[in-house]
Amino acid sequence: MTVAGPTPYEVVIGPGAQAELVLVLAGTPQAAVVHAPPLAAAAGAAVETLQTAGVAAEAVVVPDGEAAKTAEVAARAWEELGRLGLTRSDAVVGIGGGAVTDLAGFLAATWTRGIRVVQVPTSLLGMVDAAVGGKTGINTGAGKNLVGAFHPPAAVLADTDALTGLPEAEFRSGLAEVVKCGLIADGAILDLLDDDPTGRTATEELVARAVQVKADAVGEDLYDLGRREFLNYGHTLAHAIERVEDFGWRHGEAVAVGLVFAAELAGQAGLLTTADVDRHRDLVAAMGLPTTYAGDWAQLQAVMRVDKKARGASLRFVVLDGLGKPMILTDPDQAWLDAAWSAVSA
Ligand code: GLY
Repeated sequence: MTVAGPTPYEVVIGPGAQAELVLVLAGTPQAAVVHAPPLAAAAGAAVETLQTAGVAAEAVVVPDGEAAKTAEVAARAWEELGRLGLTRSDAVVGIGGGAVTDLAGFLAATWTRGIRVVQVPTSLLGMVDAAVGGKTGINTGAGKNLVGAFHPPAAVLADTDALTGLPEAEFRSGLAEVVKCGLIADGAILDLLDDDPTGRTATEELVARAVQVKADAVGEDLYDLGRREFLNYGHTLAHAIERVEDFGWRHGEAVAVGLVFAAELAGQAGLLTTADVDRHRDLVAAMGLPTTYAGDWAQLQAVMRVDKKARGASLRFVVLDGLGKPMILTDPDQAWLDAAWSAVSA
C-alpha cells in the first residue's frame, strides 16, 4: 500500500517481502545494513543479495533492543557510515525490531542531512507501528524519543515470514497496537480478533489493516499536529506505566491496560456504552494481554502530567465517542479518572 505525504512510499506486506530490497535499491551505489546480532542471518542475506545486484552493501552491527537507541551507538554508527563513504546517493537499511529501525531511520535522517532509509521490520510491533510513519530517534537522559527527526522511509518491507519465530509474548505485545487500530478505525480488525484472538490465523490481513489505519493517519498528518495523535489511543496511561516500571513492561502490555483505562474513561464521560467498554476488556483479555495493573495511582498521575511530549500542561487522552470515532478529551473530571483507575487497578 502507499503512504501519502510529502514523500509518498510503499509498504510491502507478506511472506518474502524482504526480497523486494533489490528492486527498491536498484541503481543505488552503496547501502549500510543496520542490524543487531540476533538478526545477523537476515541481514547477511540482505547484504549478499544487494551485492549480487551491484549495490556495495555492508553491515553495521548495533546492540539489540533499546540499547541500540543511544547517542553513543549513533556516534559509532556515524563513524561507520563515514568509513564506508556513504553519500546522498546511498541508503541505510534498517533490519530489526522497532528500536533498530528507529535508530536506522535517525542515522539516515542525520547523515549528510538526510539519505534514504528502507525499513525491514522483523517484529509485529515494528511492522504495524515503529517502521511506518517516519518517526525516528534515540533516547537520552532527558527521556525516550526526545531526540529525533521526522524522516519518512523510502519503503517499508514487512516480511511476515519474520513473525513465525517471534516469541508469543512479543507477538501479543504487537497485537495490542493492532487491536488499537481496530478500536479507533477498523471494525473488521475487531471481528478478526474475535474469531482468533491469537492473531495467528489472519496475521497478514491484520498487519495490512493496521498499517492502513496508520498510513491514513500519517499520510494526512506526518508532523503529528492533529489526526496522528489518535494513534496514541491507550498510550497516555501506557507511557506512565512504562516509565514507572522503568521500561520493564512490554510496550503492548502497557498499551493493553491503557486501552481498557481509556474505554472506562469514555464510559464515565458518557461517550461509550457499557457494552463497548466491555468489548475492550473482553477482547484484550481474550488476546492474553493484561487488563489490570497494580500501581500507585498518585505516582502514575504525576508521571502522566509531566509527559515531556504532552502539549502544554494539560492532561490529554484519546477517547472514543463510539467505536471507530476517536476524539481528544482534555483535563477530564478527577472523578472520571479515579473511577477509570478503579476499574483497571489490580
Ligand atoms: N506511534 C505513534 C505514531 O507513530 O505517531
